[in-house]
Amino acid sequence: MRNILIVGAGKGIGLHSAQLLSDENLFTISRNLTPELELLGTQFFELDVSKDDLTDLNLPEELHGLVFCPGSINLRPFNRLTEEDFLADFNQNFMGAVRVIQKCLPALKKSKSASIVLFSTVAAKLGMPFHTSIAASKGAIEGFAKSLAAELATANIRVNVIAPSLSDTSLAAQLLSTDDKRIASAKRHPLQRIGTPDDSAQLVEFLLSDKSSWMTGQIIGLDGGLGNIKL
Ligand SMILES: NC(=O)c1ccc[n+]([C@@H]2O[C@H](COP(=O)([O-])OP(=O)(O)OC[C@H]3O[C@@H](n4cnc5c(N)ncnc54)[C@H](OP(=O)(O)O)[C@@H]3O)[C@@H](O)[C@H]2O)c1
Repeated sequence: MRNILIVGAGKGIGLHSAQLLSDENLFTISRNLTPELELLGTQFFELDVSKDDLTDLNLPEELHGLVFCPGSINLRPFNRLTEEDFLADFNQNFMGAVRVIQKCLPALKKSKSASIVLFSTVAAKLGMPFHTSIAASKGAIEGFAKSLAAELATANIRVNVIAPSLSDTSLAAQLLSTDDKRIASAKRHPLQRIGTPDDSAQLVEFLLSDKSSWMTGQIIGLDGGLGNIKL
């Protein structure tokens, strides 16, 4: 059994990833323990990784996988976003990942073969109105991931990023709150549907496995074709 840490495992993509990986030795973090996560019997830590002290986070000596799921969807016209909004998105999407990876690095190195999975968004690749703040934060994740992948390649630690489009989780609830919104969102995607949390969880499972052992430094679009195709 491998030791895997999933940050943001309470809901959405993180929860679905934990469910798929439940045969592994799972360590999980969220700000709240949900009943669904509790049911999995993982070693859970209640933490806000963007601000809480991580010094006492009691992780195993060896860590084979790290998945970082916290994110935000703060969509507003640029002129209605404040500096505080940009900084809050940056902390939530990017600095949390930096803090957790720094904490986990010794344990990841010790495993001799490890995989880190981060999340971006299709909006970091395809310019879309009202996405300036989230696109900036996820752009930071993408640049960071490629550089970190280069730095850690000789330690056999792989770093890859999943860049989903709109997926049916609590994070996107407001954007999918009516049937009309759901239909319009599905139609914007060449494959005519929005994503499911399981679409991403399956990719997480693959990126943590040996099946992807020759992949690092990649930004993988998981977006029903939206990022690359125009119908
Ligand atoms: N869903 C989409 O449409 C979509 C589209 C593009 C990209 N993405 C990206 O995909 C990733 C996963 O999204 P999702 O839809 O699964 O999100 P989600 O449903 O909001 O789940 C995020 C998980 O992270 C936890 N979390 C959030 N902030 C945290 C913090 N500061 N410290 C610790 N735990 C925290 C949440 O639980 P608590 O609130 O209890 O802490 C929750 O368990 C995100 O990075 C997101 O930006 C999602």
